[in-house]
Amino acid sequence: MDNVLQATDLTRYYDAGQGLFRPTQQVKALNGVSFTLQAGKTLAIVGESGCGKSTLARQLTLIETPTAGSLIIDGKEVTNATAAERKVMRTKVQMVFQNPYASLNPRSKIGTQLSDPLSINTSLNRRERDEKVQAMMKKVGLRPEHYQRYPHMFSGGQRQRIAIARAMILNPKIVIADEPTSALDVSIQAQVLNLFMDLQAEFNTSYVFISHNLSVVEHIANDIMVMYLGRAVEISSKNTLYSQPLHPYTKALLSATPSIYPEDRRIKINISGELPSPLNLPSGCTFHKRCPFADEYCQREEPQLRTVNGTQVACHHVERIN
Ligand SMILES: Nc1ncnc2c1ncn2[C@@H]1O[C@H](COP(=O)(O)OP(=O)(O)O)[C@@H](O)[C@H]1O
Ligand SMILES: [Mg+2]
Repeated sequence: MDNVLQATDLTRYYDAGQGLFRPTQQVKALNGVSFTLQAGKTLAIVGESGCGKSTLARQLTLIETPTAGSLIIDGKEVTNATAAERKVMRTKVQMVFQNPYASLNPRSKIGTQLSDPLSINTSLNRRERDEKVQAMMKKVGLRPEHYQRYPHMFSGGQRQRIAIARAMILNPKIVIADEPTSALDVSIQAQVLNLFMDLQAEFNTSYVFISHNLSVVEHIANDIMVMYLGRAVEISSKNTLYSQPLHPYTKALLSATPSIYPEDRRIKINISGELPSPLNLPSGCTFHKRCPFADEYCQREEPQLRTVNGTQVACHHVERIN
């Protein structure tokens, strides 16, 4: 299978301001994450707020440069690419954000916002651009007369359709969607998810689909990566992850998700306590403070991802607890 994206030990630290009596501290927002994305498939990235999902998205879309690690997009290493190469890569990886209103220009007509990327990146003439924009608007469920309207004239769901149309207009290899349905009414969420899936079926686009909620990605994902404090704790095919979660954190997330699969397949695990700060990561397994199975070894030794029954999982006690 064709990999369109390969991340290896991708890492991003931020400097947290220094004070008079405080040395510069580092926020370890993304802490060495490795995964691949296959052509035409969807990798879902799931984990609670603050675990580094948006930080990862900013590395994958080349908005930021990683502190360490490698990122290969469409066969090309981008972490040491020149500015010109990065510019080309940016057209191959597009992004859809949680809040479409913030990513659309309030003073520019929808048609203009959709044709601008074509003016900048292609040699299409005006008529060709308009045709392409109208065709894309139709695909995402907008009407021709919407071309002349401004973002505030649309509902939240329609605005997200516009943002999706803009991400798709250059026919990117990869779309990174960061919580694209989290701000929408539940009734609208399914429609937008279906739109993503229809577009993927038509254009064979690969998606990295980010959500804090496992039930949102149930239909769209092929594979799922569960993140905790800037690391991947479990990577698996969707079906395996839902039916046979191995990591205690994945089990906890699933038991907090409204039932999709029968209750009896679940072990109830409550995650107690707050998410530790990425300014001061716990020793050993970063999940040990909240894990019902943690022992002294977990406090000391950091578990690495290893393959158990075809799933990649980072837990010392997988065999004992499953
Ligand atoms: N620019 C930044 N400077 C300092 N800390 C940051 C910055 N961006 C994110 N963080 C911190 O990194 C951690 C991960 O944040 P984020 O990637 O937004 O998580 P998520 O999207 O999963 O909620 C959080 O603790 C956040 O406060
Ligand atoms: Mg986020």
